[in-house]
Amino acid sequence: MRAFPQATGQLSGLLRDIGLAAKRVNVEVNKAGLVDILGDAGDINIQDEEVKKLDVYANSQFVGVLRHGISCAGIGSEELDDIVVFDDEVSNNSKYVCLFDPLDGSSNIDVNVSIGTIFGIYRRVSESGKPATREDFLQAGNRQVAAGYIIYGSSTMLVYATRRGVNGFTLDQSIGEFCLSNPNIQCPPLGKIYSVNHGNFFQYQEPVKKYITACQKKDKTNGGPYTQRYIGSMVSDVHRNLIKGGIFMYPGTIDKPNGKLRLQYECNPFAFIIEIAGGVATDGKQRILDIKPTALHQRTPFFIGSKSMMEELDGYWKGEA
Ligand code: AHG
Repeated sequence: MRAFPQATGQLSGLLRDIGLAAKRVNVEVNKAGLVDILGDAGDINIQDEEVKKLDVYANSQFVGVLRHGISCAGIGSEELDDIVVFDDEVSNNSKYVCLFDPLDGSSNIDVNVSIGTIFGIYRRVSESGKPATREDFLQAGNRQVAAGYIIYGSSTMLVYATRRGVNGFTLDQSIGEFCLSNPNIQCPPLGKIYSVNHGNFFQYQEPVKKYITACQKKDKTNGGPYTQRYIGSMVSDVHRNLIKGGIFMYPGTIDKPNGKLRLQYECNPFAFIIEIAGGVATDGKQRILDIKPTALHQRTPFFIGSKSMMEELDGYWKGEA
């Protein structure tokens, strides 16, 4: 008997479509040093960042498969200034919209360091049978029905969460399929890794500085020593911490109080995944998943990781530590 007799299979179809786009992007990422797709496309995206050619390619692949699939009424992409509504008969009857960062960590492409794709899937709030609306894309992260990421690393993995759990699939290049490799991922409640851009240390708020200093002072008597690991590709940093236990921080700075990371494309999907895996994600004051977005590309300070480590950090925010 089917676990969900009322299910239409649209969500599975959407995840399959994302897997297909990921395989195509993976092929190009793997030959980035060989063909003329390495380096800048010469454009600046709406976040004022240089667009790399692979970003452009990845974006078009994800938009393309989702447009032609039967499960998605529209998308929002970190690379595009506005939402794209797939206004056709099939798409207007689709249940879901998808928000994604097609290629996160793109400044690492030129140096052969792992990069990734991040996505969050929401059930539409607009009327079925009609085109998706802006409200569909401005839902709080706690309304996600699924979220995931692809990491193009030493092997390529698709990790996604639904409310039933987090599962990891490794791409078997010989058959071109994602095979279940990490079932029911649980984030260890305590790890020994902290990930943050130390170069910005003096720009951070006091509670963050105090917590980082406490991490540096850990020894055998209080769960340490801790190790600092920061790749500069959030997908890689958070993936490692999810599996091994740890904390990742991208705090606000004096110049940029909201930090760098985008709530909708980067933080909400990871917050959903980590919570399902037993971890915690906040902006320092509140749960990331409870933030009601007001703009498509809004940024937020981001703290995510193992439950006990996040609780310790929270003590500094509350002035208790
Ligand atoms: P980009 O896609 O522009 O390379 O940004 C990557 C993000 C995120 O993945 C990473 O953790 C963070 O930016 C690194 O930023 P800093 O270099 O400022 O630490």
